[in-house]
Amino acid sequence: VGLEGGLGLEIILADHAGFCFGVTRAMDLTMDAGKNDDNEIYTLGPLIHNPQAVNKLEGLGIRIVDEVDEVNEGTIIIRSHGVPPNTLNEAKDKDLEVLDATCPFVKKAQKSAARLQEAGYQVIISGDKQHPEVVAILGSTNGQAIVIEEEEDFEKLPKKIKKAGIIAQTTQSIDNLKTVVNRLMDITEELKVYNTICTTTNERQTSAADLAVEVDIMIVIGGYNSANTNRLAEVCWEVGTTTYHIETADDLSRDWFHNIKRIGVTAGASTPNWIIKEVVSRMEDIKQEENVNEEVEEVNEEEVEEVNEEEVEEVDY
Ligand code: F3S
Repeated sequence: VGLEGGLGLEIILADHAGFCFGVTRAMDLTMDAGKNDDNEIYTLGPLIHNPQAVNKLEGLGIRIVDEVDEVNEGTIIIRSHGVPPNTLNEAKDKDLEVLDATCPFVKKAQKSAARLQEAGYQVIISGDKQHPEVVAILGSTNGQAIVIEEEEDFEKLPKKIKKAGIIAQTTQSIDNLKTVVNRLMDITEELKVYNTICTTTNERQTSAADLAVEVDIMIVIGGYNSANTNRLAEVCWEVGTTTYHIETADDLSRDWFHNIKRIGVTAGASTPNWIIKEVVSRMEDIKQEENVNEEVEEVNEEEVEEVNEEEVEEVDY
């Protein structure tokens, strides 16, 4: 999508940017509850890694808690990363209303892990041990799965495994998953692989890189605490384009726009559309002011030239 700035500045949005399907769904469910549910509403952990979106939810009276224990009545919202089954049960046992906004793709990974476990497979998760999504998948195997995050984790594997099944964290890179598959092939008699990687991450990174090579600078919008936004910024730097990671329009600096013709814009999967729009419109304002300044400078130069000509003429006479 190309947005003509109208004054020589072209702002181009990456083909895939901003909220993914799962985050949109979680946000919609939560905003809806904030407006229509008379209960006190809590999210278990921040709904998404974006401080501005979280502030907006707080404005609707939605509060963040770290544990189910902290809530005695009301509605508790499970975010898109999901939670282990025992956390869901804990909330239900306390008679809390549970609004489960777990992304359907994450749910699928949880279910596949549970089914493999029940069928007697050793479940292997390729992902980050501390990530809530991985903690939730691990929970759906009653803690029996083995998580492979780094090289030394392979040492924890048994020498031989009869039946193993691999599940990937949805944001895992395909290269990491391939490494795990290759290593497991050597030690298992039977291996099942569920590629549960979500295409969103890859699509955003590929379209950010494609755009970065076409433009003078890249603006990457998203929470400083958002891993996928940080990764997008890295991808843009890696193709050699000057890249600025910002959270909101207020973080833009007009110094970045001197002599710039084409600006690429992308945003993490947890960046709301209204923030993207604000950034684009602020950039257009900056460029417009810059053009006005340039015109004023040109007019001043013309005046100076005219004055000089008059002076010269006087001298001639
Ligand atoms: Fe779901 Fe993929 Fe987003 S797994 S939360 S749609 S990145």
